[in-house]
Amino acid sequence: MGSTEAATAAPQACQECALAPGQADALVALSQNAGWNQVAADWRFMLQQGRGVGFADQAGRPVASAIHWPVGGRLDWISMVLTHTDWRKRGFGTRLLQRCIDAATASQRAAGLDATELGRPLYATMGFRELYTLARWRLERVGVPTDVPAGIAIRAATAADIDALAGFDRLYSGMNRATLLAHLVGRAPRVAMVATAGGKVRGYVLGRDGRTASQIGPIVAESDAVALALLSRAVAAADLPVMLDVPDRHAAIGAWIAAAGGTAPRRFWRMVLGDAPGLDDPRCLYAIAGPELG
Ligand SMILES: CC(C)(COP(=O)(O)OP(=O)(O)OC[C@H]1O[C@@H](n2cnc3c(N)ncnc32)[C@H](O)[C@@H]1OP(=O)(O)O)[C@@H](O)C(=O)NCCC(=O)NCCS
Repeated sequence: MGSTEAATAAPQACQECALAPGQADALVALSQNAGWNQVAADWRFMLQQGRGVGFADQAGRPVASAIHWPVGGRLDWISMVLTHTDWRKRGFGTRLLQRCIDAATASQRAAGLDATELGRPLYATMGFRELYTLARWRLERVGVPTDVPAGIAIRAATAADIDALAGFDRLYSGMNRATLLAHLVGRAPRVAMVATAGGKVRGYVLGRDGRTASQIGPIVAESDAVALALLSRAVAAADLPVMLDVPDRHAAIGAWIAAAGGTAPRRFWRMVLGDAPGLDDPRCLYAIAGPELG
């Protein structure tokens, strides 16, 4: 056995396994162990869309996880790379990540993900390259709503808007994610809003409930002004506290959140293995759906 294989060998006490949507409640215990925000609906959605792999202890409880699913013609998203604190440094994270990479490679797709500080060195070792950085903002109260730019109308987004939203989103996100957008419209209808001008989509915001905070995102818009108008209305409609993950290049968004008393305690690195056109350009991507959803 080579040194890499030795370092990633699993101890007898845990078995590698597939993860299924029916395990969502047990998996919430795993993400809660890391202090993460997912609820059972998040795990169910991700495991329905893609393939989950993990390790389970002798009682059958999941102690490590990773999920990958297709989010565009040539791109897989990798998420929930997570090992319970009691089981880290045994090679589980590396092994599961390798499973996801192998699946993407076998389908000739690139692999994208948003890395935490802990995950980043693992991904760099496995060949991922950094595209840009994001700040996770947390906001405990509602800020001052910004003006809606002239000529723009903002209204509730519904299931009837999904095709138009997905077409707009595809131009700017590097992904093809109508199913995700439909899921999010259902998760937080009060937050779901679309900005239009001349009957055309100019921006949108969606969100979802979370274990410790409501997550706002994606926000995709053609300008800072439209993004801010959507964000300030979404925050006012959401259950507080809220959090959102904003590419660092969008200083105007960060400034508005900071002025409302928000803080940015965490960072993420968007990374890719292979070639994913558009994924490197967050010009119109003001908030991602979340590191686990892309
Ligand atoms: C990132 C994370 C998933 C890594 O999981 P893990 O199961 O501990 O990962 P591995 O065991 O494969 O590798 C982690 C380290 O253990 C080392 N290691 C692996 N097998 C080992 C062994 N048998 N003995 C000693 N060390 C070992 C690896 O070389 C690696 O070392 P490094 O951190 O110095 O690079 C885990 O820290 C975690 O869940 N963190 C919180 C959630 C998170 O941030 N996830 C990343 C999302 S992007």
